[in-house]
Amino acid sequence: MQEFAWWQHSVIYEIYPRSFQDSSGDGVGDLNGILERLDYLVHLGIDAVWISPIYPSPMADFGYDVADYCGIDPLFGTMEEFDRLLAEVHRRGLKMILDFVPNHTSDQHPWFLESRSSRDNPKRDWYLWRDEPNNWLSHFGGSTWERDNATGQYYCHSFLKQQPDLNWRNSAVKAAMFDTLRFWLQKGVDGFRVDVMWLMIKDDQFRDNPPNPGYRMGQPSHHRLLAVFNSDRPEVHELVREMRAVVDEFPQRVLIGEIYLPVPQLMTYYGLDLKGANLPFNFQLLQCGWSADAVAQAISDYHGAIPEGAWPNWVLGNHDQPRIATRVGPRQARVAVMLLLTLPGTLTMYYGEEIGMTNVPIAAGQVQDPAEKNEPGLGLGRDPERTPMPWDGTASAGFTTGAPWLPLGDDYKTVNVAALGQDPRSILQLYRKLIGLRRGRPTLVNGKLQSVAAENGVLRYVRIGAHDRILVLLNMGMDVAQITLDGGTVLASTGLDREGETVSGTLDLKSGDGLAIDLP
Ligand code: GLC
Repeated sequence: MQEFAWWQHSVIYEIYPRSFQDSSGDGVGDLNGILERLDYLVHLGIDAVWISPIYPSPMADFGYDVADYCGIDPLFGTMEEFDRLLAEVHRRGLKMILDFVPNHTSDQHPWFLESRSSRDNPKRDWYLWRDEPNNWLSHFGGSTWERDNATGQYYCHSFLKQQPDLNWRNSAVKAAMFDTLRFWLQKGVDGFRVDVMWLMIKDDQFRDNPPNPGYRMGQPSHHRLLAVFNSDRPEVHELVREMRAVVDEFPQRVLIGEIYLPVPQLMTYYGLDLKGANLPFNFQLLQCGWSADAVAQAISDYHGAIPEGAWPNWVLGNHDQPRIATRVGPRQARVAVMLLLTLPGTLTMYYGEEIGMTNVPIAAGQVQDPAEKNEPGLGLGRDPERTPMPWDGTASAGFTTGAPWLPLGDDYKTVNVAALGQDPRSILQLYRKLIGLRRGRPTLVNGKLQSVAAENGVLRYVRIGAHDRILVLLNMGMDVAQITLDGGTVLASTGLDREGETVSGTLDLKSGDGLAIDLP
């Protein structure tokens, strides 16, 4: 697949660094821990790691509150350790994508300390200061405006009050932030996942948001308003284009945007002439219902809307969303794996997905996530999907020699990498099998996607390459379904028990059965 950029045929693996592997015994994962596990990732077959923020941070939002864009938090290690990790990632033929958090800094960032120190500080305008608040609401509950007693004005924070929003209309902010990108690009980092890309620019008149007529009790409180004036503003596209231009100063890098918007708006983030984000994250699989009809619709909607020449991508999980195995159950989790790995474009998976990790219930006294602390009981907490990776059945699951920062799942003695590695039909082997298949059959990456349909609970589609055709059948329903086909050879099955079988005529597919079939 030489004509493609590396990221186009990559499976990206998100590492939430606090929970991947601890090497120091403090119960929190770190860079040397990731280093220890690189060979596992090579064995799994993924192509790139995206590491959630590792920069110095007071950790009010566990690293999404950055106090220095060009450093490493001592909790995770040192810059020397980072450099070694990057070199070792590259030595193994993998790529590294870092998280970039442009919308807001930590309130402990020196820029904000200066900005809040007086109304006439040169960095005052680096953040959004107003005499009066408007009605905008924070994603973590309450107003986006916090009064600062020292100067009597209010500053804007789309998330916690410890995360003040930068003013991206200020050219000095742009220049300083773009230089932080260059700092990492010069080190050889292969790209960025840009945090909340669609929120970066706000209305310059700070107009009030209108009420959301669709709001229902029990939804996050910021859904009470439609975020018309503090999200997805037209000017954001110029900023994304500039950010992309910085990344493009270096060859073979990628710019990925975190964007939670309906498909038509999402597509605009590819940019005019495709000079925006290389990949606006496609979260359709996280958001659609889990049925053949709903997924067929999501696939058709997404592929029907993608601009000419733009590269598709699919995401199965991340550190903000319930784990897929919890959402759909263990049998359908295997269907989800086959679905993800047979869809076109760049794919993103979340650590632990490959062993069918589920959300871990967090007792009230153990809650860490500010999203849960600020608005308890609405199910907004993200701790359950951020628990430590179980590597083996020993104490603390081989994750740490200390006390893990979040509890391990009760099932870690059986659901762990070592145990599933021994089981030839485990979900871990299914991931390996399908990643390997994708690598060996480029049609799965870039072949045409055709005949997407749902029938009797079965999702089906065909991938068509220059010389091959692969039919995918996934029973997402509750019942046995019968499928008729002319004939073919099974390349992979969700049960890992039918590979090589010749199939023709009428096939029985049980609930949770999936087949990838080589058509003649
Ligand atoms: C993004 C991150 C999330 C974080 C928020 C604020 O949505 O994925 O974890 O809390 O931005 O930075």
